Amino acid sequence: MSEGHKARVREQFGGSADAYIQSAGHAAGEDLDTLLAWGRTRGASRVLDIATGGGHTALAFAAFTPTVVAADLTEPMLRAARDFIHGRGVTSVRFLASDVDALPFKPGAFGVVTCRIAAHHFPELLPALRQVARVLRPGGSFLVQDILGHDDPSSAAFILEVEKRRDPSHVRAFRRIEWTAFLRAAGLTVMDEAIVSKVRIWDEWTGRMRVTAEARAALERFVLEAPASCREAFDVRLDGGRIVSFSDRMLLLRADRD
Ligand SMILES: C[S@@+](CC[C@H](N)C(=O)[O-])C[C@H]1O[C@@H](n2cnc3c(N)ncnc32)[C@H](O)[C@@H]1O
Repeated sequence: MSEGHKARVREQFGGSADAYIQSAGHAAGEDLDTLLAWGRTRGASRVLDIATGGGHTALAFAAFTPTVVAADLTEPMLRAARDFIHGRGVTSVRFLASDVDALPFKPGAFGVVTCRIAAHHFPELLPALRQVARVLRPGGSFLVQDILGHDDPSSAAFILEVEKRRDPSHVRAFRRIEWTAFLRAAGLTVMDEAIVSKVRIWDEWTGRMRVTAEARAALERFVLEAPASCREAFDVRLDGGRIVSFSDRMLLLRADRD
């Protein structure tokens, strides 16, 4: 799955780089504020932001961190992030094309590693977390945010289908108990956690991944014909029979390296 999957990631995000730079939900929010508050208390001098996307997390950490490295698999995304961050007058961020499965850093190179709204794209979570643990110094913190997997199997299957139709590079979202177990297996212990709701505006959310009008209409039908309990689980809002928005729950964790 791995190489074909990563080609899919590059295809999806390479064509949507500008949309991610412009995305208000990536640029700010209670979720990013929580990661920043945790990061400030850790006071690391070197931060690695993996799967940096449009670079919003890297930019925010650069405000109080001497060295930030922003890494991403998708080179056009990384170039867009670099132009965006330089355009903000910030020159202290370094950019590196890198797969989370093979981070090119020495053991213990960073005091903090961040990863925001990206792990659901990783083909396998545990090898990625082992890489994170390897590049963190002992006592260093991994600050991670991702879509929270739903406990109810039919709601989880419903949202997985919606996500995959919108973005074929979506793999899956994990539940809190799964995250905790994977982190433990990688030598990371959860020290802090939060759950934050994030509203997705339907047209913007589907448009950001360049879903065609035809596929969007089919996806909308799929959502409208799903059991009401599935729509309720994600607070799907309608106006005149059309989808306006839904809500995701985001899991945020601070896990420290043993
Ligand atoms: C939604 S964006 C991330 C948003 C960003 N972290 C932020 O805070 O705004 C997801 C990113 O994950 C990257 N990605 C997916 N799989 C990856 C992998 N295996 N290694 C590195 N980056 C990856 C994609 O290229 C994409 O840029």
